[in-house]
Amino acid sequence: MPKESKNKNNLFQSPKGMRDFLGEKFYEKQGFYTRAESIAGYYGFSGIETPIVEHAEVFTKGVGEHTDIVEKEMYDLHTRGGDHLVMRPEGTAGVMRSYIEHGMSSLPQPIMLYYGGPFFRHDKPQKGRYRQLYQFGLEIIGSQKPEYDVLIIQTGFRILKETGRNIVVKINSLGDSETRKNYLKKLINYYQKHENEISKKDRGRLSTNPLRVLDSKEPETKEVNKNAPTCLETLNTSSKAHFDMVIKGLSEAGINYEIDHTLVRGLDYYSHTVFEFIVYDENGQPSHALGGGGRYDGLARAMGYNKDIPAVGLGIGVDRTIESAKKKVFIPQNKQHPDFYFIQTGEELNNASFHLREILYQNNAKVVFAPQKGSIGQGLGIAENLKIPFVLILGKDEAQDKTITLRNMNNREQQTLTFDEFDNYLKLMKKNPA
Ligand code: HAM
Repeated sequence: MPKESKNKNNLFQSPKGMRDFLGEKFYEKQGFYTRAESIAGYYGFSGIETPIVEHAEVFTKGVGEHTDIVEKEMYDLHTRGGDHLVMRPEGTAGVMRSYIEHGMSSLPQPIMLYYGGPFFRHDKPQKGRYRQLYQFGLEIIGSQKPEYDVLIIQTGFRILKETGRNIVVKINSLGDSETRKNYLKKLINYYQKHENEISKKDRGRLSTNPLRVLDSKEPETKEVNKNAPTCLETLNTSSKAHFDMVIKGLSEAGINYEIDHTLVRGLDYYSHTVFEFIVYDENGQPSHALGGGGRYDGLARAMGYNKDIPAVGLGIGVDRTIESAKKKVFIPQNKQHPDFYFIQTGEELNNASFHLREILYQNNAKVVFAPQKGSIGQGLGIAENLKIPFVLILGKDEAQDKTITLRNMNNREQQTLTFDEFDNYLKLMKKNPA
């Protein structure tokens, strides 16, 4: 018997940090994905879907054991079959696993993919931070060229500009593995000299993940960080050339960017370019990250593959992007506002109404079906409230004569039509929409 949840009283409340998408919120999320997929399509990406659970090592090896999302925030599943699976905290490692599993390196390179869906992080929920969060991700796998770093940023920027908000790209480079080794040495050396001035939490990070000390939010560490050596001044020649190309490309593409020496990102797999999309608030102040990403040339090898596979990608936080958008920009075109409200009185009329529903469907007419016990007047009131332009009434008389009463809610005119006449009426309406 599986154990019951500790929160017995909360059966009618979604789990902490997770939520239902209802009404407009459902359609906004759907609308965001539709728009994002369409923009990604224009820039040459195609879709992929990977499972929501993966083997734990995909993330412990890929993202890094000492990163917050792996060390503290992963949802673990020990299956009945004895597998150790986890609910994906991010999408990149799973996409890389899929690229290797399906031998995509034998196809023309690079492979450009987009994906979306829920991700899970057992973090402290607060505004803009959920335990079931939604992302839209882009990955370009199989090329080292800096042009692809630019293409990723450009596509993400275009998607986020749909919010109607001011978006700035913060960017930095962590260089290649040689640069990173040299930089870490310099950085550790610097922090050791200032060990007593940084926070206790950051002192602990020095031995596990010194780069994270650099983007610490602790006030005393922030002060020390002001004079810390920067990675950009440590870049070797080829890493510098890569970064210069990316910056030049962003300028060409007309993308607002700012170089930020303290940007390192929270996941271990990054090398070379790292970036975040920052949204600005109404007062022109930088607010929070709607997305981020970077190059991850070492991920495949970190996961245990025997070759390096160069790649670059990004993840957009869908929850935050929708919350930041100027009103309703993501309502999808396919949101179905009904054309007809279909009042049927009496249960014995079912067969006629099935037939009519088929006629409506064949003519692409959207209908709300409302079997009624109460009066027709009540149904008309509901249709009026829902702003549905036409009402269909199928009562006993209509069912017997195989007719339907059609009421125009704007001018309140009514006419009775045979099913064939109604079919023709719908065909005409389709040809000459109001
Ligand atoms: P990430 O920065 O961890 O990167 O997440 C990307 C975005 O997801 C964040 O900028 C944020 O908007 C959103 N996000 C993260 N955590 C939460 C949360 N708890 N609640 C709501 N939104 C959240 C990645 O996941 C990388 N896989 C991105 C990447 C792709 N790098 C290369 N390829």
